[in-house]
Amino acid sequence: MELRVKRAPRIDIEITVPGDKSISHRAVIIAALSNGVCVLNGFLPSEDCMHTVNALRALGIQIEQPERDTLVVHGKRRVLTPPKKEIDCGNSGTTMRLLAGLLAGQTFESRLVGDSGLSRRPMDRVVAPLRKMGAHILAEGPEQTPPLCVRGGSLHGIHYRSPIASSQVKGALLFAGLFAKGKTTVVEPSITRSHTELLFNYFLVRTAKNGDGSISVFGDQVPESRDFTIPGDISSAAFWLVAAAAQPGGHLLVREIGLNDTRTAVLGILLRMGAQVREAVEGVDQLEPHGIVEVTGIPLKGTVIQGKEVPQVIDELPILAVAGALANGTTIIRHAEELRIKETDRIAAIAHNLRVMGAKVAEINDGLEIHGPAALHGARVASFGDHRIAMAFAVAGLFAEGETIIQDADCIRESYPGFETVLEQFTNPKRMQISTPVIGSLSPARAERVEEA
Ligand code: S3P
Repeated sequence: MELRVKRAPRIDIEITVPGDKSISHRAVIIAALSNGVCVLNGFLPSEDCMHTVNALRALGIQIEQPERDTLVVHGKRRVLTPPKKEIDCGNSGTTMRLLAGLLAGQTFESRLVGDSGLSRRPMDRVVAPLRKMGAHILAEGPEQTPPLCVRGGSLHGIHYRSPIASSQVKGALLFAGLFAKGKTTVVEPSITRSHTELLFNYFLVRTAKNGDGSISVFGDQVPESRDFTIPGDISSAAFWLVAAAAQPGGHLLVREIGLNDTRTAVLGILLRMGAQVREAVEGVDQLEPHGIVEVTGIPLKGTVIQGKEVPQVIDELPILAVAGALANGTTIIRHAEELRIKETDRIAAIAHNLRVMGAKVAEINDGLEIHGPAALHGARVASFGDHRIAMAFAVAGLFAEGETIIQDADCIRESYPGFETVLEQFTNPKRMQISTPVIGSLSPARAERVEEA
């Protein structure tokens, strides 16, 4: 599928976004392990998350989907049954890595496969610590890439200092820890999204947050079945937040969005770039804060994104790079080498596409230097099979002279079904009445200071 985009007229829009992808994966897994029926509302019915749902079905869990974003999960008290064939994770790294942790503690053998993109992504980050816990697990591809063969075993808790700030690694180990003897502790080099631990707490699984920021789970626990509503995905909203922020006078309101503070760094960065950003938390009753975000655009200025901020905006960096191209001055993204091993090499893909559209960009080993403001012109750009590259450049197209065509845009369905409908609202807005929420102001996030070695 090709996506055609033209310049946006004045943005004055109110939207909601589909459910959070990270929370959706984790919620359905925990519900499957629980001791009864759980109704999950706001579930993200994207291709990635449906791979997790179908994997759990293949492991003997009954999951109904009465509506596109509602799942009824029949938890079986942590009892999974051997899959009849290999489990297809599609393009979803989160599915493969979280399931690796879950399956490491089972008594049967399973094999996790992925599509050609996922088959190039490294799995040693979960294989090595799971082996330390006693798992028999093998990455069969070259340089520890998929398929993953997991021959379950009896696990014991470990104290693991992860070299990578990855919430997929943390999640895999905490899921394995549920099946392990004793306590499993994960120390991260810097904070990553906290959804696994929050959901564990919500489903009454005992965890501990330690003084050094590490997180522990105690083995041999059965999650207590509960219903749960998944808030909107701030990483999906980020595409529209940047669009509004970069258009002087643009105005956007996003409702029912997840506002977990390990995910909201993108708001601080937009503020630092000069946009007006306001947020209001409306509820924390299910432990995951959610509420409203409002953005008003002005001419943005360049910024530096580095250090501990990077893992907190890892999925927003493609669209923040587009914001950088539209901003006055230089935007520098560094310490983001993880971008090279996402769905594609995102550093190379962003640099290539921004140049094709007329921006001045230098690619560095672990990031990008973008010299704005660019007068973007429409062009044919590749998605590189990466949903976030496709969406970031669709938004770039809203600011370009002439038509922008995103090739191979089907990958957008991996994380954001319905993206095109919202895009259409941005290019052909119908007049609508925006209600005025009463929300407080944020103070700008200061750029992360990093001592040079
Ligand atoms: C995710 C974590 C991030 C992110 C991915 C989803 C998760 O990956 O890029 O889209 O749900 O845990 P890493 O934790 O590997 O950085």
